[in-house]
Amino acid sequence: MVHQPFKSMQVKSGERLDLGNGHELEFISAPNLHWPDTILTYDHKTSTLYTCDVFGMHYCDDHTYDENITLIEEDFKYYYDCLMGPNARSVLTALKRIEKLEIATVATGHGPLLQNYVSEWLGRYQNWSLEQAKTETLVAIFYVEDYGYSEHLVHTIAHGCAKTGVAVELVDLNSTEPQEVRELVAQASGLIIGMPAQSSVMAQAALSTILAAVHKKQAIGLLESGGGEDEPIYPLRNKFQELGLIEAFPPILVKEIPTQATEQLCDEAGTDIGQWLTRDRTIKQIKSINSELEKALGRISTGLYIITAKKGEIQSAMFASWVTQASLEPLGVAIAVSKDRAIESLMHVGDRFVLNVLEEGKYQGLMKHFLKRFAPGADRFAGVKTYPAKNESPVLAEALAYMECEITSRMDCGDHWVIYSTVQTGRVANLHALTAAHHRKIGNHY
Ligand SMILES: Cc1cc2nc3c(=O)[nH]c(=O)nc-3n(C[C@H](O)[C@H](O)[C@H](O)COP(=O)(O)O)c2cc1C
Repeated sequence: MVHQPFKSMQVKSGERLDLGNGHELEFISAPNLHWPDTILTYDHKTSTLYTCDVFGMHYCDDHTYDENITLIEEDFKYYYDCLMGPNARSVLTALKRIEKLEIATVATGHGPLLQNYVSEWLGRYQNWSLEQAKTETLVAIFYVEDYGYSEHLVHTIAHGCAKTGVAVELVDLNSTEPQEVRELVAQASGLIIGMPAQSSVMAQAALSTILAAVHKKQAIGLLESGGGEDEPIYPLRNKFQELGLIEAFPPILVKEIPTQATEQLCDEAGTDIGQWLTRDRTIKQIKSINSELEKALGRISTGLYIITAKKGEIQSAMFASWVTQASLEPLGVAIAVSKDRAIESLMHVGDRFVLNVLEEGKYQGLMKHFLKRFAPGADRFAGVKTYPAKNESPVLAEALAYMECEITSRMDCGDHWVIYSTVQTGRVANLHALTAAHHRKIGNHY
């Protein structure tokens, strides 16, 4: 934003900067309150808390301050729901960090300055977040900022995990109080640890705190940070197994600079732990439905397809039936992709893929292969004959037909994204063969 060199200083949570005349600024890390790197700044002289987006709203009128609660409370809540609610636990952590401050004014980046009802506004954030956090399945991810590749990779794991709808809390082992670590471990259903350096006394103490607070049946995943002197993974892994925790994915060992393949591995590992923790929900969804409506929905029949995509070094595939032509001019198709699919990260606007059409009577081999449970980062094309399309995505040699597609829009449809793509080129291998048909009895699964 500055576009030229400027004098700067890196700060961590709790650090202070004296500007003179009593204006001592204190920085309070508030990760995930809209942005992963949100920092609140408290001016000790004026008791003003500068909060970036936190406690903000998209509201503007002639009042500089929060003179009238009823005028703005709806916008305050809407803003919370959209930007803060998804990270309710992080909101609670941030509120705890500021509870000792005497706040006269909340100077947010959006909307009126809050001065007249400060404790009311803070209280509302607290209540909404407590309510939200009660019902969530939580995965706590522990790591050490600035050590190895930990920070980048745990964010990738968090992304994969969040795709499954679980709440994720990222915790820096070097700047979190043992009490906070203990509470989080007690609440979490899943734990992921990016190994700290052996020499870091604080992180070592935090690891002991985690070990003392874990409970049976929690899911666990370990990641080597690649910092050169990592605490060894395997002894810790054994301890967790002895304590009855369940390994959600094999340890991720980072030996060199992470590549896109490492990122794909981490993203898929995150999804695996999330899917494991939400498996009851998925089973319930399939079981609970038995109404006339679902039977009627089940009469929607489709074909069978395999979507294949390549982006940079990484490629993925998905067996699909919810596919339909969606436009004539331009030629376009729509595909429903579950939000927690591995291929989802390759299905954004501008991405390109191949839609492979399966052939009646000849699809069993491909179906069996692509419906296998793949380990995180596994090559989904091992043992499958393919050749590259013009857009570089793999074409399946055994497919009846294929189309090269480019995504132009993506619509949020509850648990799926509907991906609309234009179709550039295509080819049919056998003009006399039929597309594999897919008939179902009920509409609560594929
Ligand atoms: C008959 C059938 C049709 C399917 N159709 C779709 C679909 O249209 N969209 C989708 O997201 N998943 C669909 N699935 C589920 C995925 O193909 C399958 O669960 C997935 O490949 C697992 O991969 P993942 O590791 O990416 O989650 C279908 C599964 C079956 C058995």
